Amino acid sequence: MIINVSTGNKADDRMDTIMDLMEKIVSLCKRRGFVYPGSEIYGGLSNSWDYGPLGIELKNNFKQLWWKTFVHRRDDVLGLDAAIIMNPKVWEASGHVAGFSDPLRECQLCHTRLRPDIIEEQKSEPGEQLVCLKAQDKEHNWGEVKQFNMMLKTHLGSMEDSSTIAYLRPETAQGMFVDFKNIFSSFPRKLPIGIAQIGKAFRNEITTGNFLFRLRELEQMEIEYFISPPKNDSEWQKYFEHWRREMWRWFESVGIDKNKVHEHEIADGERAHYSKRTIDFEFDYPFGTKELYGLAYRTDYDLKNHQKYSGQDLSYRDAETGQSFIPHVIEPTWGVDRTFLAILLSSYDDKDPKRVVLKLKPNLAPYKVAVFPLVANKEEIVNKAKSVYEKLKASLVAVFDARGNIGKRYYAQDEIGTPWCVTVDYDTLKDDTVTVRDRDTAKQERIKIDSLLTYFNQKLDII
Ligand code: GAP
Repeated sequence: MIINVSTGNKADDRMDTIMDLMEKIVSLCKRRGFVYPGSEIYGGLSNSWDYGPLGIELKNNFKQLWWKTFVHRRDDVLGLDAAIIMNPKVWEASGHVAGFSDPLRECQLCHTRLRPDIIEEQKSEPGEQLVCLKAQDKEHNWGEVKQFNMMLKTHLGSMEDSSTIAYLRPETAQGMFVDFKNIFSSFPRKLPIGIAQIGKAFRNEITTGNFLFRLRELEQMEIEYFISPPKNDSEWQKYFEHWRREMWRWFESVGIDKNKVHEHEIADGERAHYSKRTIDFEFDYPFGTKELYGLAYRTDYDLKNHQKYSGQDLSYRDAETGQSFIPHVIEPTWGVDRTFLAILLSSYDDKDPKRVVLKLKPNLAPYKVAVFPLVANKEEIVNKAKSVYEKLKASLVAVFDARGNIGKRYYAQDEIGTPWCVTVDYDTLKDDTVTVRDRDTAKQERIKIDSLLTYFNQKLDII
């Protein structure tokens, strides 16, 4: 991570603070077990990251919230978990074999490959020297712009030739199109109906970087929302607007700072090959305002192509009207890793010089409650604290800590976003009450042990 040395210039200092935030988040993630550099003991692997014990809790919590919000709590969305490796014809039909590529220029001497816009960006950055790795101190000798396909390839079986090529899916979306016919025959429903999926996708990104922002192994939460062929624009726009509102509501439910989110209408000629309209939801990351999520009107592009390439009839028959047609699709898409990053960037608060607080929504926090004995050397108090911990642990994700002093324990829990700390003290032995301390206000109140679960459950937005 780049950190400039202060020059005394206000704008530069602001830049230091901004980049410093990214540095602080990456460091906290590693120290406290949210995210580790992938394969670190071997020197790492470019842009691969491992979610640690607390990271996986946070990630699972918002993935479950997504599933509850968009699958369980709706009557018009069904779930799916399709295979990552699909028949390679899927990717011919979807247009990815021909069109999922990045324009790149290759240095004729050292074979470094970069996107033309990155080359231009670096040329205009003072102090950024683009030096060829072969011809020392000389500039790269860039070749013509060429298209490089971004799908990750593998071979199935023992032969490694063109007949055994398979791809790791670059988006989860195609699973929903390919299984569309099966799902609709098991669940004959009236349109509109959505199919939702959460899963890994793979892209051979050439320019990676910025922590979890651009990965080669990423995770997506996607919905393909099937609608009847619209007779006019307002018929598809109605559903497009519905999902636009749902995406704004999602920011609120996971605590992503809405002031940092901006819609970016993708212009004609710049949209993905399948889209008639796309809005990117961009986020103000410390390294720039860039894409967080997307919303696209994919028309009947995918199903029509799958019908053509597979030779199968993929039309939908409306039981009421008796009409058969290929449905159109509105696609809202959420990146899991960018969600994780945007939540951390929105929650990190070090305004109080005495503590760092991760102001996560309580229902997303890795631990809901931490239990402490006031002192670690008094057996009665430690045992009582352990019994409170065991009781809470059965219903809530809890943690027990008897190390150091209370102040240090509070500090450690604030930094990982634990919303409540429970302390068992001398009074507990007399009246069965404990101190509950709130993460955000640092206020404390006395609660009966028997009432603790009800107290926390009422406070948690039950998800
Ligand atoms: N099915 C449509 C689709 O895949 P996309 O805009 O290419 O659209 C959807 O990707 C979302 O996946 C993005 O909005 C972003 O959140 C996430 N995403 C895409 N590429 C990514 C990468 N290399 N690393 C991390 N997240 C990525």
